[in-house]
Amino acid sequence: MKERVFFKLTVNISLLQVFMLSLCVHESCSIDMNNLGGPLLVDKQADAFLPKISPIGAPQPFLPLLAPSPLAPFTNASVPKLSGLCTLNFTAAESLMSVTSIDCWSTFAPLLANVICCPQLEATLTILIGQTSKYTDVLALNGTLAKDCLSDVEQILVGQGASNTLRQICAIRSSNLTEASCPVKGVNEFLSTVDTPKVLAACEKIDPVKECCEQTCQNAISEAATKLASKGSDLLSLDGPNILPEHSTRIDDCKSIVMRWLASKFDPSHAKKVLRGLSNCNINKVCPLVFPNMRHVSKGCGNGISNKTACCDAMESYVSHLQKQSFITNLQALDCAAKLAMKLKRSNITQDVYSLCHISLRDFSLQVGNEEVGCLLPSLPSDATLDVTSGISFVCDLNDNIAAPWPSTSQVASSSCNKSINIPALPAAASVQSCLYSDNVMIFLLLALSMVLMMLL
Ligand SMILES: *[C@@H]1O[C@H](CO)[C@@H](O)[C@H](O)[C@H]1NC(C)=O
Ligand SMILES: *[C@@H]1O[C@H](CO)[C@@H](O)[C@H](O)[C@H]1NC(C)=O
Ligand SMILES: *[C@@H]1O[C@H](CO)[C@@H](O)[C@H](O)[C@H]1NC(C)=O
Ligand SMILES: *[C@@H]1O[C@H](CO)[C@@H](O)[C@H](O)[C@H]1NC(C)=O
Ligand SMILES: *[C@@H]1O[C@H](CO)[C@@H](O)[C@H](O)[C@H]1NC(C)=O
Ligand SMILES: *[C@@H]1O[C@H](CO)[C@@H](O)[C@H](O)[C@H]1NC(C)=O
Ligand SMILES: *[C@@H]1O[C@H](CO)[C@@H](O)[C@H](O)[C@H]1NC(C)=O
Repeated sequence: MKERVFFKLTVNISLLQVFMLSLCVHESCSIDMNNLGGPLLVDKQADAFLPKISPIGAPQPFLPLLAPSPLAPFTNASVPKLSGLCTLNFTAAESLMSVTSIDCWSTFAPLLANVICCPQLEATLTILIGQTSKYTDVLALNGTLAKDCLSDVEQILVGQGASNTLRQICAIRSSNLTEASCPVKGVNEFLSTVDTPKVLAACEKIDPVKECCEQTCQNAISEAATKLASKGSDLLSLDGPNILPEHSTRIDDCKSIVMRWLASKFDPSHAKKVLRGLSNCNINKVCPLVFPNMRHVSKGCGNGISNKTACCDAMESYVSHLQKQSFITNLQALDCAAKLAMKLKRSNITQDVYSLCHISLRDFSLQVGNEEVGCLLPSLPSDATLDVTSGISFVCDLNDNIAAPWPSTSQVASSSCNKSINIPALPAAASVQSCLYSDNVMIFLLLALSMVLMMLL
């Protein structure tokens, strides 16, 4: 007899206490509650206990949840089998690693990979190497050490509950812990090559909203990496439009070196904020969903949408495939909506099928529970949390009751820079018009997802 393990995500909204925190300063700011379902608690005094919306510091889920712990059998902190050869100082990043194992929690890891788990894992590796460089004076591991250390990191995380396929999920190889093609790895050579005060000034305090637009720290890192990269050989030090592919790879590899150095200059928790803030800029730019073939939609919605039912059925079925993939942020959902619209237009569907079929942004995210609630993650860096009695929880941003915008042909696609400026404000939505572009608006739906494991024989 074969044993198979199934898991399913469930959220029972009616069991959840959902706090909706409206921080609108203006009374005029109204929120459409009809779409939310479930008991709601609106607290206009919420400012008192919600962290200031200054986007440093991700919103923390602070709501303990009610379900019994289906996770209990999985919380054995097993003793990791370590190689004993890795020189990374794990004590320097202990709490960081436990956050990482929760962000990358077993069955959740693939669903949170793009936005939460992998960025956190990458930051952790960078910080581990950076912190260790304070004692070893090198900003990279050699090939053998890299193998041992990656395996040790994995063992430690798995021992704390993380998925045991993180390497595959996050596409991390041991070469990612080495200097790769960057010609500089020694701290002393680094210090003599790079204008370190400049990098430090640009990166010590990053505002994750402004950084994505102004790229202050990112530019400083690129500049430093370019300098490091050009140390290798004169042949490759060409600047300008003729940058060879090897050279750009080299610059990328040197960026890792710069980030490790940065991570050695801050304490691990601050380094994490900086690194997650930086990676977040790239995350929100790209829709991570894979779009399947559109044949059925083209058929259902073709001919100038002669049959609305057939068209919307086809759309719904198409979108339901997207929904199975992963949790995405609200900004990614905007990207996904734009990308899908482009594909639809390419198959001659020019009418706004989003409004025709009531497709909303949250339709692009993973749907959870019987109530089919789409959960969009916040566009600022966030982490999952674990409560042994309630399970894994993470913040869903309620900025998702919003119709998917159909790009008009006249409208130039808004740049990610412009979009970033509006984080964490709501994307355009009629019901909350007066809140648009206000940094004081933040609404969270705090969802704790409990995992139900069913053993089927
Ligand atoms: C947790 O520990 C129990 C008892 O020691 C064991 O039966 C179970 O298999 C362990 N679970 C995991 C996931 O290691
Ligand atoms: C590891 O890091 C801790 C905390 O930062 C520090 O106290 C300790 O000296 C380091 N250990 C080694 C061997 O470098
Ligand atoms: C890798 O680095 C470790 C520690 O610095 C050293 O002991 C080992 O000899 C190095 N291995 C190679 C192949 O260079
Ligand atoms: C790991 O290294 C590969 C090249 O070896 C690179 O393509 C990839 O982006 C790196 N991954 C991370 C997370 O840095
Ligand atoms: C429209 O499509 C639906 C579902 O495919 C079908 O049941 C219905 O008969 C169609 N209506 C017309 C007027 O063709
Ligand atoms: C779109 O319409 C044009 C002109 O009506 C036609 O030539 C083209 O084949 C159509 N493309 C698709 C993908 O249906
Ligand atoms: C940002 O948006 C404003 C108005 O919506 C527009 O004028 C400007 O060109 C945009 N900036 C970029 C960089 O796209």
